Amino acid sequence: MSSPAVVALRGVAKAFPSGTRALDGLDLSVRRGEFLSLVGPSGCGKSTALRLIAGLSKPSGGTLTWGDGGTGAVPAPGDLGVVFQEPTLMPWATVAGNVRLPLRLTRRDDETEARVAAALARVGLADFATAYPRELSGGMKMRVAIARALVTDPHLLLMDEPFAALDEITRFRLDNELLTLWRALGKTVVFVTHSVFEAVYLSTRVVVMTPRPGRVAADIAIDAPYPRGETFRTSAEFAGLCRTVGAALAGAMGESFA
Ligand SMILES: Nc1ncnc2c1ncn2[C@@H]1O[C@H](COP(=O)(O)OP(=O)(O)OP(=O)(O)O)[C@@H](O)[C@H]1O
Ligand SMILES: [Mg+2]
Repeated sequence: MSSPAVVALRGVAKAFPSGTRALDGLDLSVRRGEFLSLVGPSGCGKSTALRLIAGLSKPSGGTLTWGDGGTGAVPAPGDLGVVFQEPTLMPWATVAGNVRLPLRLTRRDDETEARVAAALARVGLADFATAYPRELSGGMKMRVAIARALVTDPHLLLMDEPFAALDEITRFRLDNELLTLWRALGKTVVFVTHSVFEAVYLSTRVVVMTPRPGRVAADIAIDAPYPRGETFRTSAEFAGLCRTVGAALAGAMGESFA
């Protein structure tokens, strides 16, 4: 019943030279097409796990196996998109220049401008191609970062607390925009958030992690249908799922004091 894995982490450990063990025994399969959220206490290794999947860092133990059926093919840079909490735009480049950056690294052809324009249109910034980051609101900057992550048309989108710094209204709006993009484009998303509500609202599955060294404490399917909107957000079903995830998180955190 479950889709094939895009990437499977088996017994993954990450220890830093400082001696910190961020992850130990992390078993996690990311399935094709799912919207997977990772929640867990601060410092439990969520960003570390995302950086391992992004290829920005190597595990110190265990394995990452790529590809449907474990073909093992490690993705090329353009095959995955990463969005961090800070939009990390280049201040001296226009919005279009920032979005073009991954294409200039991975490809040079006539499609480039069309791809940039399409990515900006997808996030509602078609009219801001020539603006500079300083002229944008926080939410708009984050949209640029999402356009930049989407411009290579990656299958896998990794997002590390992308909306945490935004006000709640903007965050709700971007949550909805992200769901629309995910449904329209058929991507696989791994999303890190501290918000149980956001995780339940967005996801097909929520994985709760233990305190450091992080591993999976609970794996909770969110079976509510899409599109999701205010009706879901205010439903008894939503409240019940938030209670389930919240209890798993509290339980995971309690363990560390045992
Ligand atoms: N480059 C690094 N060098 C040394 N220690 C690191 C490094 N990166 C992360 N750590 C440590 O690894 C642990 C996990 O960090 P990580 O950033 O993955 O946690 P997190 O779950 O993302 O936390 P938060 O929710 O606060 O973002 C922390 O103790 C952190 O100090
Ligand atoms: Mg983090």
